[in-house]
Amino acid sequence: MAITKERRSLLVSMVIVVFFFNFHHLQVMSCPDPATTNCTDQDRKLLEFPLNLEYLEAEFFLFGALGFGLDKVAPNLTMGGPSPIGAQKANLDPLTRDIILQFAWQEVGHLRAIKKTVKGFARPQLDLSKKAFAKVMDKAFGVKFVPPFNPYANSYNYLIASYLVPYVGLTGYVGANPKLQCPASRKLVAGLLGVESGQDAVIRGMLYARAAHIVYPYGVTVAAFTDKISDLRNKLGKAGVKDEGLVVPKFMGAEGQVIGNVLVGNEFSLSFDRTPEEILRIVYGSGNESVPGGFYPKGADGEIAKSYLVTVGSE
Ligand SMILES: *[C@@H]1O[C@H](CO)[C@@H](O)[C@H](O)[C@H]1NC(C)=O
Ligand SMILES: *[C@@H]1O[C@H](CO)[C@@H](O)[C@H](O)[C@H]1NC(C)=O
Ligand SMILES: *[C@@H]1O[C@H](CO)[C@@H](O)[C@H](O)[C@H]1NC(C)=O
Repeated sequence: MAITKERRSLLVSMVIVVFFFNFHHLQVMSCPDPATTNCTDQDRKLLEFPLNLEYLEAEFFLFGALGFGLDKVAPNLTMGGPSPIGAQKANLDPLTRDIILQFAWQEVGHLRAIKKTVKGFARPQLDLSKKAFAKVMDKAFGVKFVPPFNPYANSYNYLIASYLVPYVGLTGYVGANPKLQCPASRKLVAGLLGVESGQDAVIRGMLYARAAHIVYPYGVTVAAFTDKISDLRNKLGKAGVKDEGLVVPKFMGAEGQVIGNVLVGNEFSLSFDRTPEEILRIVYGSGNESVPGGFYPKGADGEIAKSYLVTVGSE
């Protein structure tokens, strides 16, 4: 059967239509029309927000391992923001110190990566004092610990305090990813998420190996600490259960089969997501994205966080 002229031209036009449809479709899929949705602007807000957490992690880990922070190792990354309150060198065993130092430099890399993409903002005022951590622990347990919990006292305490840190960032990256428009933004967030998850896994793994250890002088196991901290974060986040300790009721373990919970996941063992609002409620310790406090006495920075602060007026 010979292909007639009409058939051939029909075929050609069909190919052209399919090609252009796909091409147009592909463009829509990869990046929306900047005239209607400002993809770069929306992405920018979502990408600058986690700088708040990355600054906190960088300072907490740098100080914990070295006794000094960004002011000494990468002053231009601070963009002149104030030094953290009360951060200090932790009394760590050699293995923990080695690992925390690696985390610290990873966080410096994360700050550089985000700032290369979005200009971002200067280091916000951070409160990394013993008092700030003690307040979280007292709140988590609903009692006043005597002596107050000191994150810098030893490796156990420091790892328990570290349990507070990368996981919140991790859930934020999971939450941000589907809202990002541009492939380059999603690639950055996936890269950040990978390493934050790794940090969380290492911290949880180290704590899991010591889950039954009784933290001196509180008479509470490491597992109970993680449980209470996760409960508190769920309460403050006000968005259901997105946080789990190291040992859980069996129905909450992977496939309802195990009580060990070295990694957190939902019923499909997928990571939970959190919105910037949920994260602010947690890191402020106030349960309200408009009421700063906790590790951010003056509030977090960036357009998303500030949009909740400006209307408050007085504190
Ligand atoms: C997109 O964002 C940029 C940078 O903030 C801004 O200058 C521009 O006017 C925005 N465009 C639209 C269509 O909103
Ligand atoms: C910070 O300073 C160092 C050394 O001067 C430089 O290599 C680096 O590119 C700077 N980073 C930024 C974000 O300006
Ligand atoms: C959060 O705080 C703001 C400012 O104090 C207040 O107006 C608002 O009602 C609070 N929201 C909740 C849910 O408590």
